[in-house]
Amino acid sequence: MIKTAIEAAKEAGRFLKQNIGKVRDIQRKDGQEKNLVTEIDKRSEEIIIGIIKQHYPAHDILAEESGLKSSSASEYRWIIDPLDGTTNFTHALPVFCVSIGVERKGKIIAGVIYDPNFDELFTAEKGNGALLNGKRMKVSRTESLNTSLLVTGFPYNITENPDHAVEHFYNFLMRAQAVRRMGSAAIDMAYVAAGRYDGFWEVALNPWDMAAGTLLIEEAGGTLTDFSGNPLSVYHKQIVASNGKIQKEMLEVLHSTRIK
Ligand code: IPD
Ligand code: CA
Ligand code: CA
Repeated sequence: MIKTAIEAAKEAGRFLKQNIGKVRDIQRKDGQEKNLVTEIDKRSEEIIIGIIKQHYPAHDILAEESGLKSSSASEYRWIIDPLDGTTNFTHALPVFCVSIGVERKGKIIAGVIYDPNFDELFTAEKGNGALLNGKRMKVSRTESLNTSLLVTGFPYNITENPDHAVEHFYNFLMRAQAVRRMGSAAIDMAYVAAGRYDGFWEVALNPWDMAAGTLLIEEAGGTLTDFSGNPLSVYHKQIVASNGKIQKEMLEVLHSTRIK
């Protein structure tokens, strides 16, 4: 399955890279002003699903643009984000990727994130570690929040300030060494796994944003929870992910919702 996921992610990633700056049709999703989808997102998803179906026709698919194709009582579910970073893509900003996770009986067992701009392939199989272009990845060793480089993202309904997202951002800015915002949750998570970022949090993600990234971080030795410190589910929106050493401090900041 990892081979198929890599084949699909690379094929779709190449397609995305070839089409940067060439978007013709930008639509708003579900009536949300900031939530965009393009013909490139949809074509990328078709490429990925086509490759998966050739190899595993009976498996279920949960893909961002076409929803859940639940054929059977398959144990396997492929969770796909065909273009993570659509807003960047529509501005020809080369920060985007493809993310594919494979879930078996509710557990992510394989994950691939491919960034075609840097030609970086992040892969993980449950129990076998995480790799960046074939080399073992490890989370960072940073011990405390005040020397940590963090990353986050904002949901498309940020104007409603869901779950105190703005206050959390402010509080982390005050406590961490620095906070970045790249516009691709999957790249954010891949970079935590690679030790480039020490921690990541976000208030409202979807399973396709997180599936592959969660396994990358787990297999690279990191920690993942929800905002209350409970084990993470990719279906439960909130995520706090780190090298493990700063997880407690990150959770403390998230509990102090007021601006301090
Ligand atoms: C978005 C990106 C962004 C995150 C949003 C996601 P999309 O995914 O991952 O970083 O902040 O919450 O929806 O729409 O570009 O696939
Ligand atoms: Ca996404
Ligand atoms: Ca997407």
